[in-house]
Amino acid sequence: MSATSVTYAEFAAREAHIESPTYERLSLAVSRDDRLLTLLDTLPAPKRQPNLLFGVVRYLDGPLDDTGWIVANWDRVTSHLMSRATQTNEIGRCAVLLPILAALPQPLALLEVGASAGLNLFPDRYSYRYGDHLVGRNDPVLPCDASGMTPPATRPEVVWRAGIDLNPLDITDPADAAWLDALIWPEQEHRRARLQAAIRIATADPPRLLRGDLVDDLPALAAQAPADATLVIFHTSVLYQVPAPRRQAFVSLVRDLPAHWISNENADVISHPGLPRPPDETLHNVLALDGRPLAWTRPHGQAMTWFAGS
Ligand SMILES: C[S@@+](CC[C@H](N)C(=O)[O-])C[C@H]1O[C@@H](n2cnc3c(N)ncnc32)[C@H](O)[C@@H]1O
Repeated sequence: MSATSVTYAEFAAREAHIESPTYERLSLAVSRDDRLLTLLDTLPAPKRQPNLLFGVVRYLDGPLDDTGWIVANWDRVTSHLMSRATQTNEIGRCAVLLPILAALPQPLALLEVGASAGLNLFPDRYSYRYGDHLVGRNDPVLPCDASGMTPPATRPEVVWRAGIDLNPLDITDPADAAWLDALIWPEQEHRRARLQAAIRIATADPPRLLRGDLVDDLPALAAQAPADATLVIFHTSVLYQVPAPRRQAFVSLVRDLPAHWISNENADVISHPGLPRPPDETLHNVLALDGRPLAWTRPHGQAMTWFAGS
């Protein structure tokens, strides 16, 4: 079995198995298709990953049960594999940021690094449901199963918002919006519906996004935030894409800036000594404010377990 075949077989068993029977079947089929595996192996490693390939097939409206279609359309598939990246912009993550954002001195200036299309720069315009507790009444409503904390009573007041990304997506560009939709797995209709609601909100007032690097370009953008607002620099599910020495440079930099810093990242990419055990075996991120860990969060913001006083 080649390494790529193993990657696809493991993706089927470990990642797609619970969430997407369609991708589970497709990924298994790829792992057994020698012609397609040979073609994938001609690409750089980051361009061979299942989420990217399947996003491209969905983007091109290809069938999700036929690896022969991928082989037959390989030139078209490759050009999109090479020009696109996995940049899922998941607004559900705003539900885990909200308790911190609402508790900081208002109003806020939000600066997101690794912002993708910048949809998480609008936490003040989405609604939230923590158990029976609703915050806001408009669409989209982001449900979050929260324990160990008192849910916020209100949404934050945001007076300035800006983001940095190596490859910012333009939410007003139908091709970029379609790519974000294609990255959502086939069965996850609830995520697709809220993405569309968020796109409507962001299209009416597109966020300011800078093409740049989260270390090199952060100080200059942070310096542009209004002095009379609380500057919050935040990132969710970004640092796993950043090489370790650059991650360390980012952490040192952000600690020295006159801002609050919220991180929501896998425990493997930012170390927090003395973390309690996660609530279960599923994948979790650690939510932290100014380097202090506060909660375990599920990757799409669907749940959070606070272990520090809220
Ligand atoms: C998985 S996406 C997450 C997007 C968004 N934070 C969210 O939670 O929905 C990671 C994003 O980080 C960006 N990124 C990766 N390395 C970066 C860097 N060094 N500087 C700026 N952005 C970066 C990628 O381009 C991508 O858009």
